[in-house]
Order: sequence, then C-alpha cells, then structure tokens
Amino acid sequence: MDIPRHVGIIMDGNGRWAQQRSMLRTQGHLEGLQAAKRIVKAASDMGIQYLTLYTFSTENWKRAVDEVGFIMGLVKQYLRGEMDFYRQNHIRIRHTGDAAGLPEDIASEIAGAAADTKDFNGMQVILALNYGGRDELIRALRRLAAQNQDMATVTEKDIAACLDNPDVPDPDLIIRSAGEYRMSNFLLWEGAYSELYVSAKLWPDWTGSDLAEAIDEYRSRDRRFGGIT
Ligand code: IPE
Ligand code: IPE
Ligand code: MG
Repeated sequence: MDIPRHVGIIMDGNGRWAQQRSMLRTQGHLEGLQAAKRIVKAASDMGIQYLTLYTFSTENWKRAVDEVGFIMGLVKQYLRGEMDFYRQNHIRIRHTGDAAGLPEDIASEIAGAAADTKDFNGMQVILALNYGGRDELIRALRRLAAQNQDMATVTEKDIAACLDNPDVPDPDLIIRSAGEYRMSNFLLWEGAYSELYVSAKLWPDWTGSDLAEAIDEYRSRDRRFGGIT
C-alpha cells in the first residue's frame, strides 16, 4: 500500500514525560512542541500531504488555568517562529476546531498563519485546537440548518460538506502516542475507516523514525472498508 495521504496524530504523554523527570507539566509541553516540529519536518520530507495534529481538545479546558495558558502561549510562539520554515518547506497551516471559543489573540494568530501560507502547495498542517469531534459535528449541523437544508433528507455528503475543512480527505492513519487506546473525541466523523496505530512512547520522545515505523506498519494493513479482499 502507498504511504497515507492524511495522517492524524493524538500527541499524548507530555505530562507523564515531565512527571517521570520530576519536572512541571509545562516542561513536558515545551518538549512536546520540539517533537511536533520534528514530526512536521519528517512528515513533509516523506511526502505526506495532510497532517492533523491534535493540540488542544474541547475537554482540555478542564485543566488548570496555568497549564491551559501555557499551551496557548506555545501555540502562538510556534506559529510566529516558524514562518521561514513553512516558506522553505511550502507548508500550509490550517485550523480545525471552534475558533470562536479560542482567546482572541490565538484565533487571530492562527487565521494570520493560515492566510500567510494559503498559497503554499506542500504539506498541509492542520492544527486541531479547541477541537472536539462532537463539537465539529454540531457546528456542521448548525451550518446546514443555516443553509435551510431540509433535515429530513440530509445526506452523508451534505454533512461532510459542512465540516471545518471539507476539502481535506479523511485521515488514512490515526496515530496515538503514550499508549492509551482511545479516540478522546478526535476526528470522529472523518476517522470512520482510519487505520489506528498506538505507540507506548511518550510524545516528547517522538522522532522521525517513530513516524516512519508507524507508516511502515500502516503499509502492511489490509483496508477493506467493510468489503472483502
Ligand atoms: C498531551 O499531553 C497534550 C495535551 C493534551 C494538550 P498530556 O498533557 O495529556 O500528557 P499526559 O497524558 O498527562 O501524560
Ligand atoms: C487528547 O489527549 C487531546 C490531545 C492530545 C490534545 P488527552 O490527554 O486530553 O486525552 P485523555 O484525557 O487521556 O482521554
Ligand atoms: Mg493526556
């Protein structure tokens, strides 16, 4: 099988990484950002076309305000500091999630990065920030209703067309680091037939070779989509 066109990653384990070293959870997020940069570069070099990074869920607001603020600050820093890298690698930045529920400065930072990179034709990095699969579906249904769609005749296509990034293909592969076997509200609609890959390795320890291993394993899978091969 070919390499996946779209890879989604649940970047988990930053807190545990820090805890194992008697560090603050925020230090884990800082290292997690370094891992994200490594993986973006590796994915782009491998020729992956879409990479969705689960960065902050609609449930992550339950965490301490300091931790939430730190993560938001990191996102801002990442978007600001990487413009040269995006340009060199033709990387386009996009967002999925509820922008209206983000602090205004973060929402405008993402919108700015998306606008500045919109013509780059290399890999697309989709930041799932204030993202929940259920929330995305609710917002899609509200968009449909606003178009006066008759809900009695609604189709799968109608709903898909109202998701956050309707032109982005469904993820072929969803990776989760740090060993937990759950979706945690990530790409519920789009991930209906995604291959799943769980690694015990904590996110801050991830390198390009971990991504390569995941892709290798994916290439050996038999995707049937409910049919028979
Ligand atoms: C993932 O790491 C980052 C976010 C969810 C924002 P965690 O912070 O969830 O790390 P663990 O799961 O506590 O180790
Ligand atoms: C999922 O990780 C969300 C992100 C990676 C952004 P969590 O750490 O929030 O998920 P749970 O709580 O283990 O399900
Ligand atoms: Mg976690």
